[in-house]
Amino acid sequence: MPNSSAAQAILAIDTSCDETSVAVTAGFTVLSNVIASQVELHKQYGGVFPTVAKQAHRENLPAAVQAALKRAHLTWDDISAVAITVGPGLAPALEVGLNFAQELSAQHHKPLIGVNHVEGHVWSVMAKPRAKKTGTQDTNEPELVFPILSVIVSGGHTQFMAVDGYGQYRILGQTIDDAAGEVLDKVGRMLDLGYPAGPVVEELARTGSASAFDFPLPMTTSGDFNLSFSGMKTFARNKIEALSGADSLNAKVISDFCASFQKAVFRAVCYKLNKILQTEQFSEVWLGGGVAANQQLRAQLRATLKPYGLRLRAPYTKRLCGDNGAMIGVVAGLPKHVGKNLEAFDRRPRWSLSDNGGRV
Ligand code: KG4
Ligand code: ZN
Repeated sequence: MPNSSAAQAILAIDTSCDETSVAVTAGFTVLSNVIASQVELHKQYGGVFPTVAKQAHRENLPAAVQAALKRAHLTWDDISAVAITVGPGLAPALEVGLNFAQELSAQHHKPLIGVNHVEGHVWSVMAKPRAKKTGTQDTNEPELVFPILSVIVSGGHTQFMAVDGYGQYRILGQTIDDAAGEVLDKVGRMLDLGYPAGPVVEELARTGSASAFDFPLPMTTSGDFNLSFSGMKTFARNKIEALSGADSLNAKVISDFCASFQKAVFRAVCYKLNKILQTEQFSEVWLGGGVAANQQLRAQLRATLKPYGLRLRAPYTKRLCGDNGAMIGVVAGLPKHVGKNLEAFDRRPRWSLSDNGGRV
């Protein structure tokens, strides 16, 4: 178990997609978590444009490092290692971050720790703020009982993962096509809700009726724990086309549509979660990824867990749900990284966490 009082500070970088993030962490404690968002740059393309992301990361990184150190009230002398996301993610975006981290590591004579991005989302739930009153760190780390079930719901991944120990993962099920965040974004785009549409869908859904549209529940007979959202996407497209054709896509109907669609996406996740819980026991359930910020998702997950007496552990702030450097720092501080990897390594755009337990 990492102990914050003894934990050394790590400067952690994530450039896996469209956020340039640099954080300083000590064990599970977040000392700073700077996120330079590129959302405004990519809005005009309706999604992430890789070469634009690459250039923006290059421009944002030096200032983000300075800001992360300053907000943590630390200097390079206090930093024990540099952590960097190696994959999965957009190859050009990963490459900029990795090259930059390698330069920092050489320049400041700090070991470099390569981290799996999805593993960051898994452990984001354990990140905690610096204790406010004393300005010191909380040294009481919770005792973890394995296996734990991690549910990752992001723009790139939708996965159920058994966490059997530090660096020991089993993928129990995952989407066979789009990720949940991706399908929310795509259907949101059909409704002209901008990019990323996930948070807008959540907002509009607040005033809508979730029972207005009857979306299909996919993969009920697949006999596994995998998910698929392509059928729901087609259903959504057909409905939107029919409503547009009939000129009846008004604000009220859009709210109802968002409420029904969002609930259906999360129902599909909860359906397979329930199946998993019927077959295996876990001490607790963790939630991570950009869509974890969604309150409706959390409510549906909690309702699913209730009969099992299980609690849902979610990141303490929205900043830890989307892509961020702090979650990468938290993973770099896990006991599995004792005897750190000091060798050069390359980016891994398609790196699965079940492959080598997140070790480079
Ligand atoms: O984890 P993340 O920042 O990037 C990936 O690693 O994919 O997740 C981004 C995804 C986007 O699809 C975005 O629409 C979705 O998270 N998202 C949300 C919310 N906030 C972000 N989806 C639903 N409700 C939200 N509040
Ligand atoms: Zn992510």
